[in-house]
Amino acid sequence: MKLCVIGTGYVGLVGASVFSDWGNTVVGVDIDAKKIERIKAGDMPIYEPGLSELVLKNIKEKRLSFTTSLKEGIADAEVVFICVGTPQDDTGAADLSAVWQVAEEIGRNLNGYKVIVTKSTVPIGTNERVKEIIKETSNGKVTFDVASNPEFLREGSSVEDMMKTDRTVMGSDSPKALEILKELYTHLNSPIVACDLRSAEIIKYASNAFLATKISFINEIALLCDRAGADVSVVAEGMGYDKRIGKAFLKAGIGYGGSCFPKDVAALFRTSTDQAYDFRLLRGVMEVNEKQKYHFVKKITEKLGKNLNGKVIACLGLAFKDNTDDIRESVALEVIKLLRGLGAQLRVFDPQATENAKGVLGDLDIYYAKDGYDAATGADALCILTEWGEFRELEAKKLKKVMRGDIVFDGRNIMNRDQLEVAGFTYFSVGRPAYAVRQSNGHKSLKNRVTGALLNFSK
Ligand code: UDX
Repeated sequence: MKLCVIGTGYVGLVGASVFSDWGNTVVGVDIDAKKIERIKAGDMPIYEPGLSELVLKNIKEKRLSFTTSLKEGIADAEVVFICVGTPQDDTGAADLSAVWQVAEEIGRNLNGYKVIVTKSTVPIGTNERVKEIIKETSNGKVTFDVASNPEFLREGSSVEDMMKTDRTVMGSDSPKALEILKELYTHLNSPIVACDLRSAEIIKYASNAFLATKISFINEIALLCDRAGADVSVVAEGMGYDKRIGKAFLKAGIGYGGSCFPKDVAALFRTSTDQAYDFRLLRGVMEVNEKQKYHFVKKITEKLGKNLNGKVIACLGLAFKDNTDDIRESVALEVIKLLRGLGAQLRVFDPQATENAKGVLGDLDIYYAKDGYDAATGADALCILTEWGEFRELEAKKLKKVMRGDIVFDGRNIMNRDQLEVAGFTYFSVGRPAYAVRQSNGHKSLKNRVTGALLNFSK
């Protein structure tokens, strides 16, 4: 099939490369000439495992090409995907100016029947407006159909997610358009949900909002666990075995961030308000998420004092989650700003996001470390702010040796509590009881756990 993908951000670039890898001929379009040149040279504007290899392979095999001309890009295409950004505006709604602009240009350059598909996350009714715009700007000269085909990619695993999707959602009022899209996705061994435009639009928002709700729910349970001396990770495990609940997205922490959840939850809330409906649950989800970072910082100030002047804090993690260099809506950066605002001297490290973070934190007089140990050197406390797996690999004894203090605040509940405590650290996390609390609760003593670990080791 001949395809055109407009926009080369996460969704567009991954979409274009995966579609071409499936054997389609794909032209990627972006107005940013520099970006197009970088992509052609294999220098990806985003960090995404496997993406560069996939792009270069398909360019070489002549299935994938890029241009800055939308007219050229759509000329031969049977299906045109709109994958431009829909950032949040001041009112919490999605800013659709890029979508309208692209729709106008498609209309002006339409040279034959095409299916115009929106992959960008867009509020209810957007595709109907896209259809009107294309109709107006093409002067009704050529026939076309509009469809919604939302993407459920996660940053850091988007190539894999697209190749092995759980489901494909496609909405359109045209049976012909749905047939064409089904043909494109037919080889994927996953369910296809074919529906009307508005239902497809809501499926995307509802999915993200539901996942965000799971996170805020477990974060509130974590706050309860903190008070009750229970362990949220065990609670989540116990809940997760119930297939109706599931284990995913029940990791408590300092809150969700990224380019999707905060924006999409706010946009769904705003859409509901526009439909004269007060979505109270979503209001709670947003409020819990906003407050979560303050609970974490409070825990730090309770131990280190309200005035952090003279305190050195190592912060591991700048990206909004692991396996990405994306810092958009990163809660880690929010925590860093709060700690710096309280006077702490900060030594920070992230495996991928340091350069991006410098752009935002640049003038805050922060030390950007070369690795976790470098960040920890001379620190009174160590904070884990992003769930990078490699932080878990840091050796507790080595950390203890280079640090001045002996406290770890784990905002993502990823570190090995036992190892840290055995090495002499006082360990605090989100919703998992500290050693002293476990002792007073009559939990297995540290001494026993060490002996247990040794016994296991000697087996
Ligand atoms: C999300 C959706 O998962 C994806 O389907 C959609 O297409 C885009 O939005 P992404 O933003 O890449 O993907 O990240 P995701 O892995 O979902 O994590 C979002 C945020 O939630 C991160 O800040 C992460 O740290 C946080 N999170 C996730 C938790 O705090 N706890 C969890 O259990 C899971």
